[in-house]
Amino acid sequence: MHVARTVAELRRWRAEQAGRSVGFVPTMGYLHDGHLALVRRARVENERVVVSIFVNPLQFGPEEDYERYPRDLERDLALLRAEGVDLVFAPAVAEMYPPGFATTVVVRGPVAERLEGAARPGHFRGVATVVARLLNLVQPQRAYFGWKDAQQVLVVQRLVSDLALPVAIVPVPTVREPDGLAMSSRNVYLDPEERQAAAALPRALFAALEQFQAGERAAEALRRTVRERLAGTPVRLEYVSVSDRESFEEVERVERPALLLVAAWVGTTRLIDNVPLDPAAP
Ligand code: PAF
Repeated sequence: MHVARTVAELRRWRAEQAGRSVGFVPTMGYLHDGHLALVRRARVENERVVVSIFVNPLQFGPEEDYERYPRDLERDLALLRAEGVDLVFAPAVAEMYPPGFATTVVVRGPVAERLEGAARPGHFRGVATVVARLLNLVQPQRAYFGWKDAQQVLVVQRLVSDLALPVAIVPVPTVREPDGLAMSSRNVYLDPEERQAAAALPRALFAALEQFQAGERAAEALRRTVRERLAGTPVRLEYVSVSDRESFEEVERVERPALLLVAAWVGTTRLIDNVPLDPAAP
């Protein structure tokens, strides 16, 4: 497995792979089984697999956890070596954003401005900017993103479509802990008591999903179920939304594919999660 620390090393390796299909998994490291599911899918579908590890300062707000975001490069490299990854790109901040770097990629509209976009101003600008640069550097045929960050997937799909980037964005289903909690590098912030309490979040989502599968189409009924299931638990709901998959507008009735999305706090840790709502599903 090659480890490239510079753009020049990455470009040299990429030039040697001309004619081979490349699958790309962008990450911020501190890998868990959710990341490894992306890597495994990329491994099956491509001749070469590239993973980036870069905690992107542009996508963190000034009060957010950039400094304390968990990092363990040696452990990550060992996990990726075991998965048969061909190249890891792990640049320093000054390599990704060299002096004079002055370009920002801004996706507009509800998909980038509502929910996570409103709660974390500048977040999707940071994500879009780094993802555009990484896609240009790696030049993959396919790039893999987890559905846990559903809004991020939709923002990246918009970016790739609008800029006509020659890459297929492949969303991969959320990987969950045995009690349902969506895997996230940030779960490490939860102390044992908070970690146990956090399972109320997926339980509330799945209660609403069951209600939907039983025929409920009123978005407010689904939102109410989530609110009621979390009331009296240590999980403090920040938002619950039923958003259209295409327009990303809030809907009143789920007549087309939608997403039930939540953000919530457990102690000082912010968690997000979602489940798909597909009226055509059996
Ligand atoms: O999902 C993440 O880990 C990050 O937002 C990404 C896509 C690697 C961009 O920094």
